[in-house]
Amino acid sequence: MKIYVINGPNLNFLGIREPQLYGRQTYQDLVDSVRSWAEEMNLEVEIYQSNHEGDLVTKIQEAYGKADGIIINAAAYTHTSVAVLDALKAVAIPTVEVHLTDIQEREPFRRHSYVSMAAEKMICGKGFEGYREALEYFCKKQTDRT
Ligand code: DQA
Repeated sequence: MKIYVINGPNLNFLGIREPQLYGRQTYQDLVDSVRSWAEEMNLEVEIYQSNHEGDLVTKIQEAYGKADGIIINAAAYTHTSVAVLDALKAVAIPTVEVHLTDIQEREPFRRHSYVSMAAEKMICGKGFEGYREALEYFCKKQTDRT
């Protein structure tokens, strides 16, 4: 099973950006964790990060015909991007939305998520662990299939 893990703007600044919210671990730490969890679960992962909305759209389109699942933290574009939503709807690949922080408990403008309209599940407020749970969700699907 191949999973695309797609991360949006400013997540490359993990460890630097607002550590009181996002912690001290870096983006590379996140990539390393996702890779090792995926290996344990026998999932193949393609991990991508971009600060640009159109690049995220292109990556989602690239997943078409290649990925069995998408894990996406669209970061700020979660709350603004109809283009990201449309891309997820277009490829119609099972999607899990992840956020490091609990977007329901922060500023009101973070409560609305376009990504949620195309996602089977949202995991938020669990830090890096949220990505592990998202991988587990697909791992369980894989087991159910066989
Ligand atoms: C985030 C939450 C978003 O509101 C914010 O814009 C981010 C990160 C999270 O992972 O908690 O950049 O998606």
